[in-house]
Amino acid sequence: MQDTSINASFRDDLIEALRRTPKSISPKWFYDERGSDLFEAITALPEYYPTRTEATLLARIAPELAAGIPDGAALVEFGSGASAKTRILLDAAPQLSAYVPMDISVEALDAAARRINADYPALEVWPVAGDFTHPISLPDEVAGRPTVGFFPGSTIGNFGRDGAEVFLRTVRTLLGERASLIIGADIVKDRATLERAYDDAAGVTAAFNLNLLERANREAGADFDLDAFAHRAVWNEALERIEMHLVSLKPQVVRIAGQAFLFGEGETLHTENSHKFTEAGFEALAAAAGWRLGRSWISPAPEFAVFVLNPP
Ligand code: AVJ
Repeated sequence: MQDTSINASFRDDLIEALRRTPKSISPKWFYDERGSDLFEAITALPEYYPTRTEATLLARIAPELAAGIPDGAALVEFGSGASAKTRILLDAAPQLSAYVPMDISVEALDAAARRINADYPALEVWPVAGDFTHPISLPDEVAGRPTVGFFPGSTIGNFGRDGAEVFLRTVRTLLGERASLIIGADIVKDRATLERAYDDAAGVTAAFNLNLLERANREAGADFDLDAFAHRAVWNEALERIEMHLVSLKPQVVRIAGQAFLFGEGETLHTENSHKFTEAGFEALAAAAGWRLGRSWISPAPEFAVFVLNPP
């Protein structure tokens, strides 16, 4: 029975992750069903300011954002998930003719598309299932329409500098010459606020991080001892990013598919980078990727930004 439940791409990625020095894995593996539920719980934590700060900011600036959206435009959202923040834009910009949600999860995409369809009967909804970090194309149905990209949540912070630049370039190619992109990005701030946001008192973020090891045991046939690893979140000031790690509390061996991996005491598996930005840093990143920074709005502290990128 064990073998039929094995997720081979996760197992192979995990084996590669444990072979490298230092050990590190992509945060995309956080999001199984339990991981997605835990992330939802994170967004409601008092310490985790980004989600509610961005939603409040978007609601405040929605009329200004809407004023920059051309008649008949298609709104293309990357990693749309439940499309919660999308409604703020859809309500403010009735001139939008179509909504193109893109997400890797077909279930999340279908459910969200159905709800948006029900609530915005005049809007065409053309979902695209796929990994938006790889070049994909827009549905034929929206060809020729002006496009506005939407990438909220500071998810761009997960990519790293090079990855973020590649992503922004890919998006520009996908959306076309005259498109704009509305993007949410978390701002560099004091260490205490940042570290608390990623290491909350209730331990939800710790559970989210440790769920990766539970998932590895369930889906990759690993034998991680969950009591022998601890959650760690640290602000790397030089690299302007929060790093999440799982710290080995003792010397130990972990086995996966007949292979053994040694962890020293204090050695970590690096599970996530969450980059924070300054306005100038983001402008430079956008320019390197072929975009020009248009308007920008930054919330009162804890600061979170919404940027509009335009063609150069
Ligand atoms: C979904 C990538 C935006 O980096 O803040 C939250 C993920 N990790 N708490 C973030 C996350 C730990 C989140 N993003």
